[in-house]
Amino acid sequence: MSPHKEDALPPALPPSESLSEKSEKTTRLKTPKKPTQRRSPTKAHRQHDLSTPLRERAPQTVSLKTARGRTTAQQRWLIRQLNDPYVHAAHQQGWRSRAAFKLIELDDRFHFIRNGIKAVDLGAAPGSWTQVLLQRGAKRVVGIDLLPVKPLLGADILEGDFTDPDMPEHLKALLGRKADLVLSDMAPNTTGHASTDHLRIIALAEEAFFFARDILAEGGGFIAKVFQGGAEKTLLTALKQNFTHVRHAKPPASRKNSSEIYVIATGFRSPQEG
Ligand SMILES: C[S@@+](CC[C@H](N)C(=O)[O-])C[C@H]1O[C@@H](n2cnc3c(N)ncnc32)[C@H](O)[C@@H]1O
Repeated sequence: MSPHKEDALPPALPPSESLSEKSEKTTRLKTPKKPTQRRSPTKAHRQHDLSTPLRERAPQTVSLKTARGRTTAQQRWLIRQLNDPYVHAAHQQGWRSRAAFKLIELDDRFHFIRNGIKAVDLGAAPGSWTQVLLQRGAKRVVGIDLLPVKPLLGADILEGDFTDPDMPEHLKALLGRKADLVLSDMAPNTTGHASTDHLRIIALAEEAFFFARDILAEGGGFIAKVFQGGAEKTLLTALKQNFTHVRHAKPPASRKNSSEIYVIATGFRSPQEG
């Protein structure tokens, strides 16, 4: 499963797509046509402001009436997306993916996005973290992803592999000066083998940290996705040597059944300054 797809919004459904909505007691509505996903907003659509945590809102259950040639895994993914209040809220508020809420929730708690900052977004596609950065006052964002990202005013997102040896230099040149914030939401495609997946994501987070150590201005911040599983301890030790505060958090928008957590390191001290 692609990590990008995990948070992606479901594709627009063809007008003939049959969805049926069920109440909390999973009673099927008699007329499945009216309350389709796009034409008539569901309760979850209407409750899109974040004053109540989205997770705590009344559940709505949407099921697919026809498979339309989808595999079981594709159907499961689509049903999960259609029943996810964060997905509905992302549609409503114009975020490119539900992942936007993870950054919003982390920033609401730790306040690392400040007006006028220059930021780097690693693993940026489809672009919702960049959207949040710009909306919260970042002056300039540069980023990278293996996948293309549709243009966003104020951002330059490269299409390529961050682990390519030349890529960090390209990003630095593009930013033109030190960064105030480096974000990494990069995640490799999962293999289904938990310890392999863990090691691969930690390797990416470590690469991101080495880059951050090189590019961050004094006092800067580094936020990275890791998976719980043990190997992140080495990274945490290194982070503690370079940042004043190092914390862990799992934002409410992060799915409970995912082992993903975020490290939030703030108050960067460059190595030469001791
Ligand atoms: C969870 S998604 C990021 C979502 C993004 N933060 C957003 O809000 O739109 C993880 C992304 O990491 C990217 N990625 C994984 N490995 C990468 C690499 N080596 N270089 C660049 N991007 C990578 C994937 O292509 C994927 O788009």
